[in-house]
Amino acid sequence: DHGEVEDETEFSYEKGGEKGPEKWGTLKPEWKMCGNGTMQSPIDLTDKRVFIDHNLGPLRSHYLPSNATIKNRGHDIMLEFEGGNAGIGITINGTVYQLQQLHWHSPSEHTINGKRFVLEEHMVHQSKDGRFAVVAFLYSLGRPDSFLISLERQLKRITDAHESEDFVSLIDPRAVNFKTRFYYRYLGSLTTPPCSENVTWSISREMRTVTLEQLNLLRVSVHDQSNTNARPLQRQNGRPVKFYLPAWHI
Ligand code: MLT
Ligand code: ZN
Repeated sequence: DHGEVEDETEFSYEKGGEKGPEKWGTLKPEWKMCGNGTMQSPIDLTDKRVFIDHNLGPLRSHYLPSNATIKNRGHDIMLEFEGGNAGIGITINGTVYQLQQLHWHSPSEHTINGKRFVLEEHMVHQSKDGRFAVVAFLYSLGRPDSFLISLERQLKRITDAHESEDFVSLIDPRAVNFKTRFYYRYLGSLTTPPCSENVTWSISREMRTVTLEQLNLLRVSVHDQSNTNARPLQRQNGRPVKFYLPAWHI
């Protein structure tokens, strides 16, 4: 890799554009799912229609500091963790999913009761048999986010026009505070091509905050003309959305 921006021209977020979200499924045979999948993401999370489930249990991560390559993919900023450390991940229903990468979308891709937020963070995990689990956090403007504070130096470096090459840095994913009492769970897809399905989504119900400066650090490096990297909402197609509420919380 010579620091080129991956995928820069392969797809865009421009509404009605030649490579825009409505066209993703036709751009490459292996991206078909983006057009004809029936379990696509993101969706609106409507509280009136969720199934409360006390048994899902709290989100549990087992993370450790790890080397990550920080990349500007043209459509987002991504921290890609080095493979081989199966200990760094999450466990859902007894399946271990290893943390592969994390990245941000602005504005948010998922909405809650129709409301969109300024930022959404995705932590992408994969199991040995290739299934995905994404944990998402939504942000509104307010106090600084501590994980983003810890990344400030690295983010400034990648957003600097003169120095946008990939580089490796030691990242502690534990700085993303996993303590969330409530979250949504549903089966969906990756929100970028190839839009692969069978992604177990966990979206925290508790809002986090970022400052405008932090938000801008993540946004300035995104080259997409449309000024967004959020895929439009997809059809729910009768999929159940569960909502985890601890049993003591009635
Ligand atoms: C997702 O969260 O589904 C992603 O945007 C997939 C990716 O990292 O390309
Ligand atoms: Zn994402």
